[in-house]
Amino acid sequence: MNFQMFSFLAPFIIYMIVVIDSTVGHAETIPSDHDSGFFGDRSYYSPINKPNSPPSDAGKNYTCRIDTASNCQVWSQSCSEAVLSLARRPEMADWLRRLRRTIHQNPELAFQEFETSRLIRYELDQMEVSYRYPLAKTGIRAWIGTGGSPFVALRADMDALPIQEAVEWEYKSKIAGKMHACGHDAHVAMLIGAAKILKTREHHLKGTVILLFQPAEEAGNGAKKMIGDGALEDVEAIFAVHVSHEQPTAVIGSRPGPLLAGCGFFKAVIRGNPHHSVDPLLAASAAVISLQGIVSREANPLDSQVVSVTSVNGGNNLDIMPDTVVLCGTLRAFSNTSFYQVLRRIEEVIVEQARVFRCSATVDFFEKEYTIYPPTVNDELMYQHVKKVAIDLFGPSNFRVAPPLMGAEDFSFFSELVPAAFFYIGIRNETLGSIHTAHSPYFMIDEDILPTGAATHATIAERYLNEHGR
Ligand SMILES: *[C@@H]1O[C@H](CO)[C@@H](O)[C@H](O)[C@H]1NC(C)=O
Ligand SMILES: *[C@@H]1O[C@H](CO)[C@@H](O)[C@H](O)[C@H]1NC(C)=O
Ligand SMILES: *[C@@H]1O[C@H](CO)[C@@H](O)[C@H](O)[C@H]1NC(C)=O
Ligand SMILES: [Zn+2]
Ligand SMILES: [Zn+2]
Repeated sequence: MNFQMFSFLAPFIIYMIVVIDSTVGHAETIPSDHDSGFFGDRSYYSPINKPNSPPSDAGKNYTCRIDTASNCQVWSQSCSEAVLSLARRPEMADWLRRLRRTIHQNPELAFQEFETSRLIRYELDQMEVSYRYPLAKTGIRAWIGTGGSPFVALRADMDALPIQEAVEWEYKSKIAGKMHACGHDAHVAMLIGAAKILKTREHHLKGTVILLFQPAEEAGNGAKKMIGDGALEDVEAIFAVHVSHEQPTAVIGSRPGPLLAGCGFFKAVIRGNPHHSVDPLLAASAAVISLQGIVSREANPLDSQVVSVTSVNGGNNLDIMPDTVVLCGTLRAFSNTSFYQVLRRIEEVIVEQARVFRCSATVDFFEKEYTIYPPTVNDELMYQHVKKVAIDLFGPSNFRVAPPLMGAEDFSFFSELVPAAFFYIGIRNETLGSIHTAHSPYFMIDEDILPTGAATHATIAERYLNEHGR
């Protein structure tokens, strides 16, 4: 989730973007694709069951008993319990914790997730799960099930942030200035866990589960590039989870309709002509004031929107007016209609206000660079599906309707194309100290949620196919 787009403190937002851009922009040493990547010894996180090796005794009898009790032709409580029993095997929790810690120690920024991606492919290979690679440079599209329709997708983001970890613990980030401060390490581990559960239950699947491991959620819009590379081929519904420090450990939250804001940036260049006293500074000043009218006088007060001018640049003389003034700013809104309406109005207001003072103006919304994120809107039926799955797995007290947030997510590009639901899994545990907001250098999670998240993902997909398959 883009919490740099979360704050109303505009200078802070721009500062974060500069930090991210400059870090991404510098050529990092990209690990080459040979055997000893910086995750080192593969056996460290070898999966719980190698193909063909007998499953450990601990889960065997229980799993078999559940499977004979219900073949899950029609979804029932015993199917939910069968998934949970797989997720709750002690070796599952250990394995997912090791995976998450390995990724946490080796954070990689947007589009540089080479080793993270290789670790995921290693685990998929061990489970004999097929996949296509690469999509969007480091992304993976894996599949489990019949290979036929319907297709339902689960998505995890893989990238870390240019933040120096301030948590002192055994598995602290080993890379200076980079940190998994948004929980994407946990998202990856939970989706690998789901792959394990789904592969074990593959004979129950009445269609195909697509697992999407996506680069560059924080910067660079990996979702859009994944879609461009075919991530959503045949997919009729998609789900994704994000860890949340606002909910207690393992509590699932979501809401129908708008969940996260749409977010965009603009840069306006206002041109004057100092030789004829055509003053771009006066025009820019008027534009800054007029832009404030968009939210205060045009928007429905019940439909949250933000427009902020965050920088003004032009001129450096005491006695000469400048040729041009550059205005930059940010906008956000919850509904798709409002978002694009605000965008259009920003352009109109700047261009027309410049014209009042005989200046000309152009406004760039960086659409080509993909810095526009539409609002994340949950489909009503997909939301109901998540809610039902969560309540049947963990009981009604472990599900909450989450409030909308002004943050942005590039999951919105998926949710624009197919019915989708984005949901949260709580990681807040006062005892552990996992109480810090995402993008904080003190961010940490309660790792006990990893099997919970894996079970939720797996059940969402299996049950979707069960209820929509033929
Ligand atoms: C599995 O079931 C068999 C037959 O009921 C029993 O003999 C065996 O002890 C069980 N194993 C475990 C690990 O519970
Ligand atoms: C949002 O609006 C834009 C521009 O009007 C449009 O291209 C896009 O398809 C809309 N998305 C949804 C989900 O309605
Ligand atoms: C918080 O973490 C502690 C230590 O791991 C654990 O004992 C406790 O059950 C956790 N609390 C919740 C609400 O999960
Ligand atoms: Zn984030
Ligand atoms: Zn995130």
